[in-house]
Amino acid sequence: MNRILNVALPKGRLGEQVYERFAAAGYPCPAVLEPGRRLIFENPEAGVRYFWVKPSDVAIYVERGAADLGVAGKDILLEYRPEVYELLDLGLGRCRMAVAAKKNFSDDTRRTLHVATKFPHIARKYYDSLGREIDIIHLNGSIELAPILGLSDVIVDIVETGKTLKENDLEVLETVVPISARLIVNRASYQFATDAIDTLAERLKEERKEE
Ligand code: PRP
Repeated sequence: MNRILNVALPKGRLGEQVYERFAAAGYPCPAVLEPGRRLIFENPEAGVRYFWVKPSDVAIYVERGAADLGVAGKDILLEYRPEVYELLDLGLGRCRMAVAAKKNFSDDTRRTLHVATKFPHIARKYYDSLGREIDIIHLNGSIELAPILGLSDVIVDIVETGKTLKENDLEVLETVVPISARLIVNRASYQFATDAIDTLAERLKEERKEE
């Protein structure tokens, strides 16, 4: 029996690119891109229902089965470690997680390093691997302010174009991990709809090759 697949899309520019990829792969639902405040869109012929979800919430919808699948950044998957299957790297939303600081910053390893970040787990794991003692300052946004105002020594944050760092006189010290958008799947959904989900993942993979 053909079952409609529920797909959580990350709201915003990345989500629009993701939707275009799904549409090209044979899962169109043009109303998704119409301006407006609607959050749910369905195309029964294509066997798909899309929802717009806050990007950092996609993994929660998928983990709990409110969505069968979704697209989330590797940053979110590394930080929250949801119990989902990661089926495919879509190659969209490429950026990196990096350590950055004020220009001319030099690390005094005898002292605890103060690290401001939205990603405490990723930061902790990274510095643990280096054996470096740190103090984490967990912020929710505008992380770049922290070293400028003396709230932290460094930040661990997403760098895409590097423009935000540049305009605030900060620079990258090290790359922690490359990031891109991943197709994630609810574990139970995958058991019940393996063929439909494998077909979708395969078609998305083909579309990626063609770009
Ligand atoms: C992210 C990130 C950086 C910026 C990097 O912030 O936290 O601030 O994008 O992009 P760039 O290298 O292209 O300048 P986001 O826009 O998600 O907002 P936030 O400050 O609220 O986290």
